[in-house]
Amino acid sequence: MKRKILVTSALPYANGSIHLGHLVEYIQTDIWVRFQKMQGHECHYVCADDTHGTPIMLRAQAEGIAPEALIERVWHEHKADFDGFHVEFDNYYSTNSDENRELAQSIYRSLRDQAKLITTKTIEQFYDPEKEMFLPDRFIKGECPKCHALDQYGDSCEVCGATYSPTDLINPVSAVSGATPVRKESEHYFFTLGACTDFLKEWTNAGHLQPEAANKMQEWIAGGLQNWDISRDAPYFGFEIPDAPGKYFYVWLDAPVGYMASFKNLCAKNGMDFEEFWGKDSKTELYHFIGKDILYFHALFWPAMLKFSDHRTPTGVFAHGFLTVNGQKMSKSRGTFITAASYRKYLNPEQLRYYFAAKLNSSIEDIDLSLEDFTARVNSDLIGKFVNIASRSAGFITKRFGGKLGSIGDQTLPQRLQAAAKDIAAQYESREYGKALRDIMRLTDLANQYVDDNKPWELAKQEGMEARLHEACSVSLNLFRLLTLYLKPVLPKLAADVEAFFNIASLTWQDAQTLLPAGHAINPYQHLMTRIDPKQVEAMTEENKATLAPAAEHSPARHAEKQTHEIQPIAETISIDDFMKIDLRIAKIVNAEHVEGADKLLQLTLDIGEGKTRNVFAGIKSAYAPEKLIGRHTVMVANLTPRKMKFGLSEGMVLAAGGDGGLYILSPDEGAKPGMRVK
Ligand code: MSP
Ligand code: ZN
Repeated sequence: MKRKILVTSALPYANGSIHLGHLVEYIQTDIWVRFQKMQGHECHYVCADDTHGTPIMLRAQAEGIAPEALIERVWHEHKADFDGFHVEFDNYYSTNSDENRELAQSIYRSLRDQAKLITTKTIEQFYDPEKEMFLPDRFIKGECPKCHALDQYGDSCEVCGATYSPTDLINPVSAVSGATPVRKESEHYFFTLGACTDFLKEWTNAGHLQPEAANKMQEWIAGGLQNWDISRDAPYFGFEIPDAPGKYFYVWLDAPVGYMASFKNLCAKNGMDFEEFWGKDSKTELYHFIGKDILYFHALFWPAMLKFSDHRTPTGVFAHGFLTVNGQKMSKSRGTFITAASYRKYLNPEQLRYYFAAKLNSSIEDIDLSLEDFTARVNSDLIGKFVNIASRSAGFITKRFGGKLGSIGDQTLPQRLQAAAKDIAAQYESREYGKALRDIMRLTDLANQYVDDNKPWELAKQEGMEARLHEACSVSLNLFRLLTLYLKPVLPKLAADVEAFFNIASLTWQDAQTLLPAGHAINPYQHLMTRIDPKQVEAMTEENKATLAPAAEHSPARHAEKQTHEIQPIAETISIDDFMKIDLRIAKIVNAEHVEGADKLLQLTLDIGEGKTRNVFAGIKSAYAPEKLIGRHTVMVANLTPRKMKFGLSEGMVLAAGGDGGLYILSPDEGAKPGMRVK
């Protein structure tokens, strides 16, 4: 039976780059979608950039551009990253679209007028009198009311773990302007989630969620559902709330509606029926792939919004865990905060797809990318085992048999591989990709064993062994074709190359039931995949290491309103002796240039009065054109251990201020001379 399936991944925020953590999700989803398409089902995969909210507004302001210009630029960056990793959306859209505005407003109207689930209440909040804006919790810092730790966010204390509201903070300051916030009243709009409790109790227990997720939601529901504040006051980058001048939808209201909007936009392009997929009585399937951190939105708010605005609800919400690298949280200073773009410069995206797939299952557990294990696993499984089957057999077919396959007498082994199609399909279907790949690798071992046993390279040297050689190579290539088919959801580009090599149409799951017949002509074999050199991995992490003082160890914006321009806590107290260990010198920048192949670095030649110059690689390319720097004086750390980098030796470090709002190197006052000590 042909299923009709609509699949989404979470919409990435339009103010940060795609990194390897994000890719866990997009790769997981893409594999599932490709698998469904290979099954012959009608499957649509839509996504979009999540473009609204305070952080995007402030970021655009900081860059001196309109938010529309910022989100336009980021859309192209995101799209290029997804294309590079073969994440093939049927539509990649934006939440800042007409479709989304209309849908969000109409859902809101229906919740307000039919379901009577919208109320208003005047609440008091902190307001930045300088910036003239209300401050989201995370944009306020102050002293924890409980343990009195300083510099804590407005929603929770990182020291004692207390949660509170920003009005409870002692001595609060605005993280945007530094001004002391004032209290100000304003009317807010609420979605009365509490009134949806019965529905949500039932829905979260009806098989739409993974068991761990269902339990968590049940706990939340049991704790009592708070009404959800869905409005924000101007200035805000988002959609206006109908009949409420100066009020905007909170980004998380229109973000999931973005799934519908992207699909609606696709319908307009290819003539599909939007209602068939989103109408109340829809018979189609709808799945959302998300990270575990946004379960609350997808398993409570979203189903309630859909249900009470007369839409269908999701068939399934599939949450995954978080990515760690080398067993730890991704970190800029360790070079493990790796962007999709920088990975692509050094390594083959399909190899990451393979590794993630090998680690993924249907649970919410976190997954670890061990860079060493990644290298070993990819080299062993994909190069040593899989590709090896073809590379050891193909040449003989071309050279000795005019490129034509021979007949296969004993079909035991091919049939064994064919028989695995059903189990492997079941594993993909249930998102047990790790199990699927283990099974496929077991079959790959059998295929290699076959080649080892038959030794085509020896048969080729013996008289009268033509027929056996022909058969052995034909068997192993047929095995290779079946293995390629099973790996195709994970390795789509490699599979396309193999299809070209075999001279065959795009493989579907059904094709596992056939073998290539005698006489089938193949093309000359071409190298399919290169092994990973650990040096590439090293170069990649080096590039991702901040070469400056690690000003910002924090990851980019998450959860719009919760994200903030962080005020870094003051570091531990040190003695004057400790400080004097750092030899800071005035340096004259005598030359500055771009570094070929490095997208963050500039190469600086510095004079600190030593009679010779120093070479320093500084991660300031995003903020400075090299020609603007030449002749300037700045401050450098002169006694730092030199560091060998991919591009050469770096003999020190220049100081710069930085964080979310850009990068600024230091300048001494007029008169300071190269070599002067700074203390
Ligand atoms: N904009 C919201 C989603 C709105 S959906 C209607 C958002 N954006 S995000 O860019 O922060 O994250 C996008 C997805 O990537 C989320 O599902 C999130 O869980 C996932 N991940 C972000 N960092 C991740 C890791 N380090 N590891 C695994 N997944 C991660 O949330
Ligand atoms: Zn505290």
